[in-house]
Amino acid sequence: MLILLDTANFEAITRMYDLFPYDGVTTNPTILKNEKNDPMKQLLRIWEFLPAGSALHAQVISVTAEEMVEEAHYMVKRLGEGLYVKVPVSAQGLKAISILSKEGIHVTATAIYTPMQAFMAAKAGAKFTAPYVNRIDNMGADGVKAAMDIHDMLRMHKLDSDVLAASFKNSQQILELCRHGIGSVTAAPDVLEALIRHPATDHAITAFNNDFAEAFGKNKTMLELYEI
Ligand code: E4P
Repeated sequence: MLILLDTANFEAITRMYDLFPYDGVTTNPTILKNEKNDPMKQLLRIWEFLPAGSALHAQVISVTAEEMVEEAHYMVKRLGEGLYVKVPVSAQGLKAISILSKEGIHVTATAIYTPMQAFMAAKAGAKFTAPYVNRIDNMGADGVKAAMDIHDMLRMHKLDSDVLAASFKNSQQILELCRHGIGSVTAAPDVLEALIRHPATDHAITAFNNDFAEAFGKNKTMLELYEI
């Protein structure tokens, strides 16, 4: 399962990439607004930092298909052909997805709230479909199940598209999708950090290190010890 960071905060991206094995960065207009920087400059800064093989997803703002296509062309020109252009699944968006995909531009269909929206986007050529898990939960439906249904439908109908599940508020939602074999998820740094945090692990590390210190001296590591 690919794991992407859903943020445009450069400090968070560099800090998290230093520690964890991530596969890329996703952004949306709200995320870019939070950085209070020229959005294209911010995206370029992130792109230049990302290791080879990483993905960057950035969203168009336009609402008509023609304008979305023009905007996507500009974004790919500035950010490179590796960019995944996020297009919301309105009717105009589906038309834009179709045009862009036929041109060979990678498209991520976004703002997905139902499995059929994802199915139509995949049929139009989107490489990724992004259901908003937590937002679906907040509407009284089941976001995890929606993402699983999309995964199964794409496989069953042999569509060349994968789920990029988005909008998470807790690690349990990600665990359930990981168990189901979902292709990729994107989440904010705090949610991703929580994936590996466990007080029992911290407790075990402290207990091991206290035992070692008791036997071989305070603050000693294997580096300071040598065979006698
Ligand atoms: C995905 O495409 C969106 O950028 C994002 O995941 C939405 O998350 P939110 O519901 O936390 O705003």
